[in-house]
Amino acid sequence: LIFDDPGGLAKQAARQVRTLIEAKQAAGDIAVLGLPTGSTPIGVYQELIRMHREEGLDFSSVVTFNLDEYVPMAPDSLQSYHRFMRENFFDHVNVPEENIHIPRGDLPEREIETHAAEYERLIQRAGGIDLMLLGIGRSGHIGFNEPGSTPDDRTRLIVLDEITRKDAASDFFEEKYVPREAITMGVGTILDAREVILIATGEHKAPIVRQAVEEEPNAQVSATYLQLHNNATFYVDRAAASEL
Ligand code: GLP
Repeated sequence: LIFDDPGGLAKQAARQVRTLIEAKQAAGDIAVLGLPTGSTPIGVYQELIRMHREEGLDFSSVVTFNLDEYVPMAPDSLQSYHRFMRENFFDHVNVPEENIHIPRGDLPEREIETHAAEYERLIQRAGGIDLMLLGIGRSGHIGFNEPGSTPDDRTRLIVLDEITRKDAASDFFEEKYVPREAITMGVGTILDAREVILIATGEHKAPIVRQAVEEEPNAQVSATYLQLHNNATFYVDRAAASEL
């Protein structure tokens, strides 16, 4: 779907989330959301917060699983995705604290594998992800699934790509301070979601959006694997669509 501007894109993505939450509520069921960080989803979070404040959208029966977190990363650090999610979303809506899941970046490396397996179990126990919202990195990553990832991958520790660390440099003041690793849901975890919406805006995303949509599924661009999903939609603005 190509939108004239990022604002229209954010509104439509938020409407999709709302439709799911309300349908689940009407059925007495919970809605399980997969959530991304980055600058692109901020507009979606703002629209959802507005719906909560002005229109009473109720998040009390929503369960969330975030895609990823840097390693090492303390949850209260400036660049932490835990902090990002609190500041940009959770502090402003009524998702119950115990329903919020974000991979931990503050565990010793030997404990990460167990934590990752437990994260997968929690997703299963919640009944799987109903709607997975995704951004895309210029390395083609979804979550932090860098080149070399495969459709079978589950939540795990991963080494960050050079492009990713460059793009994150401004958040960390200098590239040398960007963590070298991250914990991320795998491509397989993402493909298990019942619906996927990838959002991308801006000219700088145009080349990777073209590759993700037009190349055959391949390990160099993990977003190409979304072509294997039967209910995945790319929401892009005109700038990000300019090379299609
Ligand atoms: C980070 C996140 C990704 C996100 C990407 C793009 O690398 N781990 O999940 O999609 O950034 O970020 P932005 O939306 O700021 O371009």
